[in-house]
Amino acid sequence: NRRVTVRDLARAKERGEKWPMLTAYDAMTASVFDESGIPVLLVGDSMGNCHLGYETTVPVTMDEITMLTAAVVRGTKRSLVVADLPFGSYQEGAVQALRSSTRLVKEAGAGAVKLEGGERSADQIDLLVRSGIPVMAHIGLTPQSVHAMGYRVQGRGEEAAHQLLRDAKAVQDAGAFAVVLELVPGEVAAEVTRSLHIPTVGIGAGAGCDAQVLVWTDMAGLTPGKLPRFVKQYANLRASLSEAASAFADEVVGGTFPAPEHTVN
Ligand code: KIV
Ligand code: NA
Repeated sequence: NRRVTVRDLARAKERGEKWPMLTAYDAMTASVFDESGIPVLLVGDSMGNCHLGYETTVPVTMDEITMLTAAVVRGTKRSLVVADLPFGSYQEGAVQALRSSTRLVKEAGAGAVKLEGGERSADQIDLLVRSGIPVMAHIGLTPQSVHAMGYRVQGRGEEAAHQLLRDAKAVQDAGAFAVVLELVPGEVAAEVTRSLHIPTVGIGAGAGCDAQVLVWTDMAGLTPGKLPRFVKQYANLRASLSEAASAFADEVVGGTFPAPEHTVN
């Protein structure tokens, strides 16, 4: 009963087996996904939006990612836990990336790290992998660059599609074990997937990818407001929790909770 490894994921691609990935930010939710057999959990910097109440992922700190990664690791037995490197923790260069990643592996127990960028992050990926830290890359829409590129589909048009392919090849050559493709046209993502020997993990990138990732609060219907078209909502936790909270409140105000069976004597 060991944890999933990056070698298991390489084997899955060889066999043509698809796999799911979900984000997780706390021990209890992570334990549910672990027990459900989700092989890879991402402690994404989407925690900025989903868990910490920021507007974007940009303010998320190493301390925040480290603390929540440690919680997810403690809550799980089987899942490979991948920790996001937050904005500002690897852009200075390979040595900074190694220092940040070492902390996530040693202090928090992460099994791998993820960082944004293709060709521009190849040096970082190379040093991390040579140092023994598995790296998942992330190209296409990279939310940490929101101030430069906004939240738009990436890889549309021939030149952009070629750049995406170059980025994918660059992270593979640098030693990444997988690459997230975010908000990329389905045909381009399928072409990238066929061209790589490492698995692609799609989000808003269509069915041609080797794996799929969703932000758990989106997938489970906890995120408020309108969701992007690529999200499928598999539950309505927001409605369920809201009903539970209202029922509890009504019973306290009405004096029906606690009942005798909830009372010690
Ligand atoms: O932070 C995150 O949740 C992510 C996934 C959307 C890939 O990076
Ligand atoms: Na992220």
